[in-house]
Amino acid sequence: MATNFTLNGKPASFDGDPETPLLYVLRDHLNLTGTKYGCGVAQCGACTVHLDGKNRRSCITPISTVSGKTVTTIEGVAGKEAAAVQKAWVAIDVPQCGFCQSGQVMSAIGLLKAKKRPSDGDIDNAMAGNICRCATYVRIKQAIRDAAKTVEA
Ligand code: FES
Ligand code: FES
Repeated sequence: MATNFTLNGKPASFDGDPETPLLYVLRDHLNLTGTKYGCGVAQCGACTVHLDGKNRRSCITPISTVSGKTVTTIEGVAGKEAAAVQKAWVAIDVPQCGFCQSGQVMSAIGLLKAKKRPSDGDIDNAMAGNICRCATYVRIKQAIRDAAKTVEA
């Protein structure tokens, strides 16, 4: 039986094995390659998407569990939090190699949606599961601080 869900505001469907991870469906079947494969076991955050508005590791999310739900990827993210994060990321020039960054951005947007004025501790907690092999952590943190100010303004 096909799994039907909403993807970036439009109807989407997957008719394969219901255990297929959402990440594979996005990348291999729906050609949305902005979401990255890092570890495959929920340890790196590269595959982060929003499921019904909340951060979710798509590598360990069977497609069957998103039936009837809303998935947002880096390609479809929108709203004031997204705009603030994207602007801050560009202003500070956060990425180095870039591989982890769509996951970082999705986690940062999820944080600001849940908490408009995160403390440094909130930022550390929210971003702890997003690994960056280039160690851009200082810039990521500063960009989130700046984005939070923009969302507040
Ligand atoms: S690929 Fe999903 S957390 Fe690493
Ligand atoms: S920017 Fe290279 S892995 Fe994070």
